[in-house]
Amino acid sequence: MKTSSKILLNGAVFVVGLALIYRAVNQAPDPSLPANEQLTQVLNEGGCVFCHTENPDLPFYANLPVAKSMITAHVEAGYQSFDIAPMMDAVAQGQAVGEVDLAKVEKCVIDGTMPLASYYLAHWGSSLTDAKKAVVLGWVKQHREQFYPNLLAAEQFRNEPIRPIPDSVAVDAAKVLLGKELYHDTRLSGDGSVSCASCHDIETAGVDNHRYSDGIGGQLGGVNAPTSYNSYFNFAQFWDGRAATLADQAAGPPLNPVEMGSASFEEIAARLAEDADFSKRFLASYPEGLNQQTITDAIAQYEMTLLTPNSAFDRYLKGDLQAMTDEQVEGYALFKEYKCATCHAGVNMGGLSYELMGQRADYFKDRELNMKSGLTDSDNGRWAQTGVERDRYRFKTPTLRNVALTWPYYHDGSVATLDEAISMMARYQVGRTMPDADVHKVEAFLQAQTGQYQGKLLTNSNPAVHEH
Ligand code: HEC
Ligand code: HEC
Ligand code: HEC
Repeated sequence: MKTSSKILLNGAVFVVGLALIYRAVNQAPDPSLPANEQLTQVLNEGGCVFCHTENPDLPFYANLPVAKSMITAHVEAGYQSFDIAPMMDAVAQGQAVGEVDLAKVEKCVIDGTMPLASYYLAHWGSSLTDAKKAVVLGWVKQHREQFYPNLLAAEQFRNEPIRPIPDSVAVDAAKVLLGKELYHDTRLSGDGSVSCASCHDIETAGVDNHRYSDGIGGQLGGVNAPTSYNSYFNFAQFWDGRAATLADQAAGPPLNPVEMGSASFEEIAARLAEDADFSKRFLASYPEGLNQQTITDAIAQYEMTLLTPNSAFDRYLKGDLQAMTDEQVEGYALFKEYKCATCHAGVNMGGLSYELMGQRADYFKDRELNMKSGLTDSDNGRWAQTGVERDRYRFKTPTLRNVALTWPYYHDGSVATLDEAISMMARYQVGRTMPDADVHKVEAFLQAQTGQYQGKLLTNSNPAVHEH
């Protein structure tokens, strides 16, 4: 054989070989495998696990000088923006994957942004083919049906990343009444001047609209007060998630020296016990008597009734397609397109994950430049609870329910208006500049989040922008 044809033949064999390898790795998983196994296979082959875990097993070439810096940079950036380990663990154990993780993976597969192009150029077969995309998207849908059945929503909206707020959840009516009294009772504070409602007034959307709240003796806190409405749906309470439940949360403010300033729950219980009528009614529901556990339980029961169903958006999701204006419907589409719904997901449009504030641009540096406002302890966010460096500047994503009424915005209360909060989110969390026209539509959509409490639309009579 002539050398030239030998080369040609070798070349042809090589190309065919490549194509075969490519086909083999690129094949969709065997459809007879269980759905969780198919998903795991696709995510492993796509390198998702490699770039999105803390200590991936780097292959040998990660030690070659150029590859190393490129790969470790991607793994670092990848792990910073998404930790896939909780999802892989849940899948392996047949348990529920968080709704935010579902929304994130769904979105990047729909957009075709993952795996990063630089990865699949180096690894044949790691890009997601249509068949593999279908495996992931089908799995997400099935997983939602299994773990987050969305029966309130109309058929065509069952698989949305956001679910309507239910009209009610199961509570003990007598305990709710006791909790309501306690929530409004200034005897929980050291000098009888402050109640939960002082900072979370039910008449003003569960907030005080101050940048920082006034506590006992006019002391200022260091972080903006979130709304108490719908807080039941959060996976933890506080910006840094330091309380696991509503009852744990309610134990905080009464003893906090800058909020309510009581010395102990024994002191509070003793004050309440002097009220013979209240004690009698309390004992009827809690025979074990007044103590931290029963007082906070009653408050939590009441907070479980602070739900705001039937916003225009929820009515739309439930099938009333006229409930939102055209502008609001477009705003919802943009809200999903700009990835907002990957963090602001679930029933509460938030409250289900800790996210880095400044995912795509340095928020704190810009704040320092623009507002001359340096870093505070509160800015550390979740890190204060875990001491894990990855958690620094991570905050529990706030709810966007009733957000038009809960100004000012962000954990530092530094943003006065909703349109500004929206365009800053696009910049700092999504890495995109949002044109004004889009901001207005998203704002209209967020106005459709104002829900009903006891059958009446929430309102807020506080002056629109409150300067502190
Ligand atoms: C080569 C490393 C690499 C691979 C492989 C990779 N990612 Fe990523 N991923 C990144 C980086 C870097 C970012 C953040 C920056 C970006 O989006 O460009 C990211 C961001 C994400 C995000 C956050 C969403 C966002 O837009 O910020 C999700 C979710 C995600 N990846 C899922 C996946 C899934 C699922 C796969 C597998 C199909 C995958 N990734 C494969 C590196 C990778
Ligand atoms: C002096 C004002 C003030 C008082 C009084 C007060 N809070 Fe708060 N509340 C705040 C602030 C500020 C935060 C956020 C603190 C943080 O995240 O570190 C907060 C957080 C919360 C949260 C968490 C919401 C979320 O999304 O994480 C709930 C629920 C809540 N408060 C309920 C209550 C209850 C119940 C009481 C009475 C027992 C109470 N608060 C008393 C100011 C106050
Ligand atoms: C990567 C996750 C993530 C994405 C994506 C994201 N957000 Fe946020 N959002 C957050 C976090 C975290 C905060 C709280 C930031 C802080 O307090 O410093 C927040 C705060 C907000 C607030 C203020 C709420 C309040 O009560 O303070 C609004 C409004 C908001 N986001 C809207 C949006 C919109 C609109 C988009 C899409 C353009 C979006 N978000 C995308 C995580 C995200």
